[in-house]
Amino acid sequence: MKVLVIKGSPHLNETSSTLVNQFIKGTKEKGHQVEEIYLIKTSLHPCLGCDRCALTNSCIQNDDGNEILNKILNCDCLVLTTPVYYFGVSAQLKTLIDRFYSKNSEINHRHLKVIYMAAAYDSSDKVMEAISAHFDILTSYLNMEEVGRILAKGAASPANLKKEYLLEAYELGKNL
Ligand SMILES: Cc1cc2nc3c(=O)[nH]c(=O)nc-3n(C[C@H](O)[C@H](O)[C@H](O)COP(=O)(O)O)c2cc1C
Repeated sequence: MKVLVIKGSPHLNETSSTLVNQFIKGTKEKGHQVEEIYLIKTSLHPCLGCDRCALTNSCIQNDDGNEILNKILNCDCLVLTTPVYYFGVSAQLKTLIDRFYSKNSEINHRHLKVIYMAAAYDSSDKVMEAISAHFDILTSYLNMEEVGRILAKGAASPANLKKEYLLEAYELGKNL
């Protein structure tokens, strides 16, 4: 299986990255092919809402977005990871999600498997409510099949990540 991991944090190797790295470890041990994209290292501009993609089937932005979208269309399992920023996803991940617009119907037809991972400082019950609702509606709107979700609360830094989350991420990769 081709697994595409999108790292949506502006931090290269901190909390959400540490979490998903355990998943990657398990996934590779299982023999799957994994590619990682650090959004912060890419050139990705926001959707302009110009609707030119409705005519041309591709986005007018001249950046890495079209290549990332092609990788998404060619993977079997998409893994979206993000820190929780104001109860939602990071700007980097939201920018990519908005760029799905130019390939909406193709993504729908792929019926992709999807996994979500998020890390937040707060450990209250409320902290993951909004982001969870967003993940739910994305999955159904894009006709994807969710095969895993890890929402790490009380995770301000890698040192605060509870072992249970790291193990859960590893097991998720190992059982994919
Ligand atoms: C702009 C910004 C907004 C944040 N918003 C929240 C929030 O709404 N709730 C929360 O619990 N933590 C919030 N945090 C903390 C991060 O989610 C937390 O530190 C996370 O571990 C960062 O993950 P990363 O190292 O993968 O980027 C915020 C941090 C920043 C910089």
